[in-house]
Amino acid sequence: MRILFTGGSGKAGRHVIPWLAERGYRVLNADLVPLDGADNREVDLTDAGQVHDMMRSYADFDELDPGTGVPAFDALVHFAAVPRILLKPDNETFRINTLSTYNVIDAALRAGIRKIVFASSETTYGICFWDGEKRPDYLPVDEDHPTVPADSYAMSKVVNEATARSFQARSGADIYGLRINNVIEPHEYEANFPAYIADPSLRRRNIFAYIDVRDLAHAVDCCLRTDGLAYRVFNIANADTSVTLTTEEIHDRFYSGIPLRREMGAHETFYAIDSARDLLGFAPSHSWRGTLGTMI
Ligand SMILES: NC(=O)c1ccc[n+]([C@@H]2O[C@H](COP(=O)([O-])OP(=O)(O)OC[C@H]3O[C@@H](n4cnc5c(N)ncnc54)[C@H](O)[C@@H]3O)[C@@H](O)[C@H]2O)c1
Repeated sequence: MRILFTGGSGKAGRHVIPWLAERGYRVLNADLVPLDGADNREVDLTDAGQVHDMMRSYADFDELDPGTGVPAFDALVHFAAVPRILLKPDNETFRINTLSTYNVIDAALRAGIRKIVFASSETTYGICFWDGEKRPDYLPVDEDHPTVPADSYAMSKVVNEATARSFQARSGADIYGLRINNVIEPHEYEANFPAYIADPSLRRRNIFAYIDVRDLAHAVDCCLRTDGLAYRVFNIANADTSVTLTTEEIHDRFYSGIPLRREMGAHETFYAIDSARDLLGFAPSHSWRGTLGTMI
């Protein structure tokens, strides 16, 4: 498959692009800045003209050789964004994220692409960037949980989900959104997790979950391989929590009084990934447990 991947130079994309390339995908990275080792197009996705140009473009010089014109992309994976609050003014975060998402989905559909995967976020549930503490309505948090955030980044992701849903209705293409939890690169286990072991409250804003970037790449691959779901959003996280406390201890300490809708495993994530498992075959295989030697 030939994939147009936006935002591939960032924290997640710089792992996901090589992961996909190693499995035979041809990937063009569309970003403000290039990624070493990838085919790149430097583009500002808030500019519709640049986006439409890029949708019909060669990945690199080798694609000139057949002499058959510009090959089509089979799928769009849209990761580019301002990835949180407090990086840019709030209205700029909202503008860049919503406008770029409108532009890339619109241009992809006009170019005939029938599979679109886009990065949404755990922050849509409002908990992550709430002023003070916001607790889930129920546990585990699944995709039916209300999404009423109070910050500009998460608002932009909720708007992007509405944008994607409307484009799906208009086009009939498959458009899948990934409500990605906190992305963890392999080196971050040693760097960050000792602090989470010492103080589990550091993970409260992430609903105690996380996603290994290699399992995120696997989730993207699952979406590219699964057809016919129309519009869907999926929670994407690892199968376990990011702290040593058991789920019962987490519930007692942080979620007292919040209804548990089902029995939970001893270290099962509170960020329900059942939909991704059932509909995409998502099977995360990495865990921080066991990577820190004697610390746990
Ligand atoms: N990192 C996380 O924990 C996390 C969690 C949930 C969701 N997400 C989402 O996943 C995606 C990837 O996140 P990340 O952590 O890799 O972010 P990142 O900031 O590291 O990477 C985003 C990339 O998008 C590019 N970009 C931004 N604006 C652009 C524009 N106008 N035109 C072209 N490129 C532009 C940036 O240059 C950057 O390389 C984002 O959509 C983010 O909102 C991330």
